[in-house]
Amino acid sequence: MNNSSQNIARKDMVNKDAADDDLFSITPRHPDSRLEVGWLFLYHKLPPDQWFGADYAYKTSGWIKVHTNIRKRQRILLQISTAYQSGEFDWSEYRSQMLKRVSMHILKLHQHHGVEDAGFFPEFIAMYPKLAPAFEILGCDHERLDALLDELQEQNDLLARSEIEDKALAEQLHQTLVDATDLLSQHLTDEEDLVIPILGLRQG
Ligand SMILES: [Fe+2]
Ligand SMILES: [Fe+2]
Repeated sequence: MNNSSQNIARKDMVNKDAADDDLFSITPRHPDSRLEVGWLFLYHKLPPDQWFGADYAYKTSGWIKVHTNIRKRQRILLQISTAYQSGEFDWSEYRSQMLKRVSMHILKLHQHHGVEDAGFFPEFIAMYPKLAPAFEILGCDHERLDALLDELQEQNDLLARSEIEDKALAEQLHQTLVDATDLLSQHLTDEEDLVIPILGLRQG
């Protein structure tokens, strides 16, 4: 190898190292993500800035849309609760806004988790067995969320029977919503980082 081809080879190597560094500097999006580096090989192949690219959007957008709707319903519930806590809504406005939305939100979340636990997650684990521990974390999140949703349903049932203002109940319900919002935010984001690249990169 002459001098100039050695230089080119050296340059290629440096460029390749820089590209590898770039690849591994792509970190999961949630600040408290539980996803380990060893589970991110697909995330590095299909990072979030490519999820909506022409080659992938038709495979990825359905899942993201479901999550967008979950986040939106959760955000609206928290906004209603915050409006009551800050005195913007009176008891009757708060009840009428809250009651009709909570049950629907809970129902939709249970349906979504059911489809994931019984269908998608086992299918993804069969495709990538090394991701099994990551899906186990997501499955545990579903159980923790179920417990919070049971609490929320009980509080909503009490709210339905409480025509007289019950500030303590509203405060408990608010706390449940805050806890569910935190857990959902972490869960949905970790799940997307894991699942969206699987969907985008699979054939068919
Ligand atoms: Fe999930
Ligand atoms: Fe999900």
